[in-house]
Order: sequence, then C-alpha cells, then structure tokens
Amino acid sequence: MNADKISGKTAICGIIGDPIEHTVSPAMHNAAFGHLGLDFVYVPFKVKSEDLELAIRGIKALNIRGLNVTIPHKVAVMPFLNEIDTLSEKIGSVNTIVNRDGELKGYNTDASGFWNALQAEKITPVGKKVIVLGAGGAARAIVFMLADKGAELTIVNRNQLRAQALADMASAAFRKNIKALELNQENLKVAIKEAEMIVNTTSVGMSPDNEETPVPARLLKSDLFVFDIIYNPLESRLLAEARKTGARTIGGMEMLIQQGAAAFELWTGKKPPVNIMRDAALKAMEQP
Ligand code: ATR
Repeated sequence: MNADKISGKTAICGIIGDPIEHTVSPAMHNAAFGHLGLDFVYVPFKVKSEDLELAIRGIKALNIRGLNVTIPHKVAVMPFLNEIDTLSEKIGSVNTIVNRDGELKGYNTDASGFWNALQAEKITPVGKKVIVLGAGGAARAIVFMLADKGAELTIVNRNQLRAQALADMASAAFRKNIKALELNQENLKVAIKEAEMIVNTTSVGMSPDNEETPVPARLLKSDLFVFDIIYNPLESRLLAEARKTGARTIGGMEMLIQQGAAAFELWTGKKPPVNIMRDAALKAMEQP
C-alpha cells in the first residue's frame, strides 16, 4: 500500500531479520494489500540476535498485527512466543507470527511454500532419493515436508553434527532411516550417483556471493531435479550449471511467493492474490 494512505487505523505487519536490506517481502505484501484495498502496511525491521527478545515484546507493545521471521531468527524466536502451531513445533522453526489480542502464535509457512512450489512443477517425492544440502531452519521445514511425503533422504551439511541431529529428529518422527553426511566432494560424489533430486537450503551462492556453489559442476548429471531455495540471484550458479548439464531446475522465487501468500492469509484472513505478489516480487528483484 502507499505510504500516503497510512492512518491511525492501519494494521502493521513486517519482517524481522539480519541482514534485511535486500528483502523483497515488503514489495510483495504491500502490492497484495493494495490490490485487495486492505488497510495494512508491511515494513522491514533489522533486528540483531541480541535484541530478538526485546523485538518480540515490541510486537505486543506496538500492537503489530504480524511478522515474518527470517535469517537468523527462525529457531531462536520460538521461546518468546505464547503458542506454536503443531506443524511448526514438529519442524522446530517459525517464519510467521500472528498477534491475536496480545497472544503471539508462531507458524511455519516455509514447509507449505516449498510443497506448493514443488506441486507447481508436478514433482512427487514419494520413493525418490533426495539430497538436502544444509541443516538450518529452512532445511528443517524441507526435510520434514519431504519425509512426510515419502522421500528417501540424505542430509549433507558442512557441520556434520548438525546434519546428524536433524536426521535423528526426522528419522524418529517419521520412523525412517535418514542419512547424514559431511559436505565434502567425496560424499557428494557418492550421494549424487544415486540421487534423483537435490535441494539446496544453504546460503552458498546467495547474492553477493553469486560465484559460489555448494556442488562442483562436474558432479552434476542430466537426470537430476535441482531445487535451490536461493531467490537472489533468480538463477544461482548451482542452477545455471545444473541446467547446462541438462538437469531440471527450479529457483527459490516460487517458494518465497508461496510462503508469503500463506503468511498473508494468516494475517488478513483473505485469499492471497498470488499473481500480484509474484509480479511485485519479480519487479523488486530488478531494483539495485
Ligand atoms: P536458514 O534459516 O536460512 O536455514 P541457517 O539456519 O543459518 O539459515 O542455515 C544456513 C545453512 O547454510 C546451514 O546448513 C549452514 O551450514 P552449517 O550448519 O555448517 O553452518 C549452511 N552454510 C552457510 N554458509 C556455508 C558455507 N560457506 N559452506 C557450506 N555451508 C554453509
């Protein structure tokens, strides 16, 4: 919505994270509020880790309607909320907060956002051998979703202990044998030989480090489906190299839009205008 329409009655939503300078969520949500004529506005808040608890108390104090939560707060925010919905509790991370009369409830729309983005590509993970790169907050939501949908998972992470902890949690929750490996070339080579799909949830290759990639190009193959949740750049080096080997690829933009759409619905109770949100996010990506 336009700043000149803001009044004393306007409901305030926003996003907390650090860094936050390059977020396209304000453009996406404000376009959606404007399109539906809702008296809502969405603003970015740069919040340092040491100020997280104060910022969450501020939601009540300032009567903020809802927030998105991004790097690095998705796990750390949980103890400061009054309630966590069941799915987010299982996943162990929250990316959306709703303030209902001073009661703060946490949700995870990354999982459904990832799932909707996969559905749009008509990908069914049942029985597929999938490598998840990374073991952070986003990886948790994706591992949970893929395990729930019947994929055979291997988690590969720089910090092997973190990969193991996530694999143990998901193995217990889904009674599966989820593998955990350290991120190195030898492990990648062995795992990719068998894999049908790779999902990158690490920040390797994210702007401004566009020249980096978590997987050397020579290990990629044409019969892979590669999903990189990075949306800036729209096509990461990993995706560009995968595409050149003939693999199917999908970038993180659709997941960003879908998680945003689900958050929008939680705050407003309205059906999100997804096409408007997509156009606004893509347009915002063109800004320097
Ligand atoms: P998010 O909430 O977006 O998932 P996060 O919890 O900070 O963010 O997780 C970031 C992920 O990227 C982690 O898996 C991290 O690996 P570690 O667990 O070893 O820290 C991974 N990551 C970040 N920088 C990396 C790098 N340079 N090389 C490999 N992995 C990296």
